[in-house]
Amino acid sequence: MSFITRRKSVELAPGEGGSGLKRTLGWPHLMALGVGAIIGTGIYTLTGVAAGLAGPAVILSFAVAGVVCACAALCYAEMASLSPQAGSAYAYSYMTLGELVAWVVGWSLILEYTLVCSAVSVGWAGYAAGLIHGAHIPIPDSLLAGPEAGGIVNLPAAFIALAVTGMLLVGTRESATVNFVLVCVKLVALAGFVALTLPHFDASHFHPFAPFGYAAHAIDGKKYGVMGAAAIIFFAFYGFDAISTAAEEAKNPKRDLTIGIVGSMIMCTLIYMVVAACALGASPYDVFSKSGEPLAFVLRQLGQPAAASLIAGAAVVALPTVIMVFMFGQSRVFFAMARDGLLPTGLAKVSKRGVPSTVTILTGVIAAVIAGGLPLSEIASLANAGTLCAFIATALAVMVLRRRAPELMRSFSTPLVWLIGPAAVLGCLYLFTSLSAKTIIFFFIWNAVGVVVYLLYGRTNSRLKA
Ligand code: ALA
Repeated sequence: MSFITRRKSVELAPGEGGSGLKRTLGWPHLMALGVGAIIGTGIYTLTGVAAGLAGPAVILSFAVAGVVCACAALCYAEMASLSPQAGSAYAYSYMTLGELVAWVVGWSLILEYTLVCSAVSVGWAGYAAGLIHGAHIPIPDSLLAGPEAGGIVNLPAAFIALAVTGMLLVGTRESATVNFVLVCVKLVALAGFVALTLPHFDASHFHPFAPFGYAAHAIDGKKYGVMGAAAIIFFAFYGFDAISTAAEEAKNPKRDLTIGIVGSMIMCTLIYMVVAACALGASPYDVFSKSGEPLAFVLRQLGQPAAASLIAGAAVVALPTVIMVFMFGQSRVFFAMARDGLLPTGLAKVSKRGVPSTVTILTGVIAAVIAGGLPLSEIASLANAGTLCAFIATALAVMVLRRRAPELMRSFSTPLVWLIGPAAVLGCLYLFTSLSAKTIIFFFIWNAVGVVVYLLYGRTNSRLKA
């Protein structure tokens, strides 16, 4: 079989025994991982960026991105229940679409996970900067923003990426438990935001509803319109895929992964709709869209400075959970790729505490450098490109396996798969084309480099090499 089409068998897939990863996570931990990963900079910060691109119609952008993501989540749940193993979309592609596609997906996941860590770090830094100003801590503004925002380096963003790296090195179990508590903080803060803004709901803020139209169109290199905003706000919805990368650490993978993925997806989609509508109802979109800490900004505008500080505090305390989950996912993707021989095994070495420490440190440092220097919208849209690629591959994998191996035991089956599967693929493709030209070009350059790396290393070191 050629190196392009060779693939792992589904039976070979679950990495039972010998992996060194401990089975310590139950479904509440996995769902907390999901909610911890999904609710983050997307709703806390990108809501403002997206509102600036679509106006009040950003509500529709949320709906579009949510529906596309839900279709992909249903496909993920089937694959995760069928083949619970580290590596998520990479592993699913390897069993169905062949080694080269799997490599491209894995390489795209590495891009996604690293950039999500960076993007959330920048979002965190926006709220941290607000608190730093409020407390009159003497840090020069030039050290609180990257070059594009008029500063030198975004020091808080780089700091938080490195701090989370340290927490993960302590070990999965401890990190997941801390995560659980912080997820609760994040949810209570959003509930408080809704309670405080709802009485100020002004329907006139929704006129004109779609000042930038519906289809994505470029103005000064950015994509405007409902779809342009959807391609950015898509960032707010993913994260559930990080759960499936923890499959080899789940106590009862088939049941727990399904509950974790589908449950956290539904919960987050509902919360977003309500929070976004409340923000738009309380403040004109063109005012809060310019803030680096939009939810706190809206509350301050309503004359609630204490509540604004509280929500900023909650973001500062809780957003690191998102970074944590994606660093966790990143290390597991490396782990899976190295185990298959496509990356050097040294990268995936698991410490006594069950943590792949080399790759965790590597990811943390690179994420910190990017977070320190680049603007949020650009980092987030490139992360989206990588994610969309992984979602397309997973939806294709589900459909391929339904045809090729219908007899396989599936503890969760994607409902209406011939509708949901194509909807996930086409929806993701449409969102991909709605990203800025710069993002799309960089994504292809990243993968061209990846293919060269594969040809030089993975092709000859693959464990499937005859
Ligand atoms: N969905 C995650 C967030 O919004 C990546 O931060």
